[in-house]
Amino acid sequence: MGLREDLAALTDEGTAAFAAATTQDALETARIAFLGTNGREKDLTKAFGALPGPEKREFGPLLNQAKTAVKEAFDAAKARLADVEADAPIDLTLPGPARRQGSLHPVSQVSREVEEVFTSMGYEIADGPHIELDEFNFSRLNIPADHPARDHQDTFWLSTGKLLRTHTSAVQSRVYPKVQPPFRKVVVGKVFRYEAVDATHDNTFTQVEGFVVDTDITVAHLVGTIRTMLTALLKRDDVEVRLRPSFFPFVEPGFEVDVRLTKADPASRFSRWVELMGCGMIHPEVLTAGGIDPTRFQGFAFGLGMERLVMLRHGITDIRVFHGADLRSLRQFGN
Ligand code: DAH
Repeated sequence: MGLREDLAALTDEGTAAFAAATTQDALETARIAFLGTNGREKDLTKAFGALPGPEKREFGPLLNQAKTAVKEAFDAAKARLADVEADAPIDLTLPGPARRQGSLHPVSQVSREVEEVFTSMGYEIADGPHIELDEFNFSRLNIPADHPARDHQDTFWLSTGKLLRTHTSAVQSRVYPKVQPPFRKVVVGKVFRYEAVDATHDNTFTQVEGFVVDTDITVAHLVGTIRTMLTALLKRDDVEVRLRPSFFPFVEPGFEVDVRLTKADPASRFSRWVELMGCGMIHPEVLTAGGIDPTRFQGFAFGLGMERLVMLRHGITDIRVFHGADLRSLRQFGN
């Protein structure tokens, strides 16, 4: 190889080596190799010195160009590394430790929305225990021990004679003796049924219970409240609601509420009527058991399964995702 090629290689390799240096050590190694006392630049300068006069004139400018280029690359690398060093303790360009952000369970999200919708309508939030007395879960709700309605709700009984509450209606029994009308209350909480688990039934689920007692309360108030609630919670403009007469011992008259999404995919089960909740005018016996005079006050009550509502909202077709603890499912509903 001739001197011309050697000078070109010095320029190319020298500038590349300095540009690639990311540490002081790498910079120093490159400096020694290219600019050191025994480095490549010195070798070529010596070779140049041995050239005869006319060739010196030809190669002089090339040698100077190569030296300048390599020196500039060295200076630039040195300045760059000095900057990095100065900034090192707070290098904002470094990615932080990756942290996955958690999110509320889809049922918790909607529970909070339910509480917001109802508190905005003047309701107060009420609560009761999961382990409940027979009296509050059944007797005071007009479901005596020999009543066939108890067959509808297969119950987890504890050896103490207490039970896991089968519905949030039990909270009605607890609230009535403590307050005087008028009042509006909403309850969101877990309930338990001795059920075979399948796509639409779980043994543990979440209910919303609302109840209002005042003078001059009618079914029209009940229907208006349910419409308002479902429109707010389903966040759709195609929610259709239907009431069918039905029987619950703690209301008279009682209704079942079905919901249909008119714009849902015709193949989806939500394009057909889905039974969503029960409701009615609070039975006079229930008010009496709670110490409220049914000749002066009336009220309505309703109860619904939260999971059904969340399924309707997100198009989920299997209730088991809620307690399945499969984070791949739950993360899709992160807020
Ligand atoms: N407690 C009923 C159940 O668990 C739901 C229900 C029906 C609640 C009618 C009510 C009501 O307040 O009026 O199936």
